[in-house]
Amino acid sequence: MQANSSQNGLFSPIEIRNLTLKNRIVASAMCQYSAIRGAPTNWHLDHHALFAVGGVALGFTEATAVEERGRITHACTGIWDDCHIEPFRQIAEIYHRNGALAGMQLAHAGRKASCTIRSGGGEYLTETSGPEPKWETIAPSSIAFGKNEAFPKELTQPEIQEVVAAWAEAARRTEEAGFDVLEIHGAHGYLINQFLSPITNGRKDKYGGSLANRIRFALEVVDAVRSNWPSEKPLFFRLSSIDGVADGWTIEESIQLAKLLGEHGVDVVDCSAGGILHWIDTQLLTVGEGYQVPYAERIRSEAQIATMAVGLILSASHADQIIRTGQADLIALARTILFDPFWTLHAAQELGADPDFGMWPKQYRGSLSSWYRRSFLESLQNEKQR
Ligand SMILES: Cc1cc2nc3c(=O)[nH]c(=O)nc-3n(C[C@H](O)[C@H](O)[C@H](O)COP(=O)(O)O)c2cc1C
Repeated sequence: MQANSSQNGLFSPIEIRNLTLKNRIVASAMCQYSAIRGAPTNWHLDHHALFAVGGVALGFTEATAVEERGRITHACTGIWDDCHIEPFRQIAEIYHRNGALAGMQLAHAGRKASCTIRSGGGEYLTETSGPEPKWETIAPSSIAFGKNEAFPKELTQPEIQEVVAAWAEAARRTEEAGFDVLEIHGAHGYLINQFLSPITNGRKDKYGGSLANRIRFALEVVDAVRSNWPSEKPLFFRLSSIDGVADGWTIEESIQLAKLLGEHGVDVVDCSAGGILHWIDTQLLTVGEGYQVPYAERIRSEAQIATMAVGLILSASHADQIIRTGQADLIALARTILFDPFWTLHAAQELGADPDFGMWPKQYRGSLSSWYRRSFLESLQNEKQR
């Protein structure tokens, strides 16, 4: 395991390669459907500023396409061209200005591309769905995502190599844009997941069939990205730990893959689940508080690699317990910090990790600490005495 924790608990720092995350809280990737020709816009700056000021150690961009045809929708971000470097640099700078690290999530939607913004994936663009034209999607096999939906083009082996090269170029641009951490999106039924899963991969060549063949594309992408991503910077891999459908990708396969990811230079496996089929087809995944944490725990202990837990992690005490009990090394939050972008700072109060408001921006600190002591704590005290 490359990651090195100096002490346990949600507010203990962790070293990964040459970087230190100041706590264990990470803003998870979240599509905003607000990009213009792949470039992030002012909304993205505001969105990331909330989390950076709110005290996360690291914040990830939304799924950012390595190829134009790899976007989920017309409004998704991409980094398939050098013109995208500058707008992304502004996002990285927001995190740095606020004492946090900037993460880029690179992605390719494969057969789940060319969708309408409304659904954010799942409803394909058609001739009648609006002004935006649809485009041809690609996949390991020509298997449609759902009934009455377009068949993706099956990639030839030379075309697979072109896609792998696009990941490498995107990694180079991510480095040029000043990001600290790169995450490869291998989950949620997107292109890498489509190669991993027997549901979507029916190939008969060296990229299909056995586990060794189905993981080949993922490992080629990791190698290509690592070759253009500095060795001192961490590399994360988001995995759907299980497909959650009958005959799909399993947790045992995830453990096998995670061991190899570590050998190929991945530092943290971000343990998500599902997405290979429409949610209504997902029968084996019971969604509840912390429902994906057991995957992070198993992968961490059985593959001996650092993991990030994600999915309905709501309370500070639960997040802290996940870290203290060694179920995961990091906690990724999405809706939880959309609801409360200052969740990290509030969690620190609740857990007693920041009694002097030292984690807050210095401009807020003095006002808040006196207000908190006088108003908030006193009213709590009075309530107890009543
Ligand atoms: C608005 C929104 C957009 C999302 N976009 C992405 C994305 O771009 N990439 C990704 O890997 N996951 C994406 N997700 C999934 C989240 O990163 C996270 O895994 C999931 O929401 C579970 O965490 P939560 O319960 O804290 O929301 C998105 C989730 C939300 C709510």
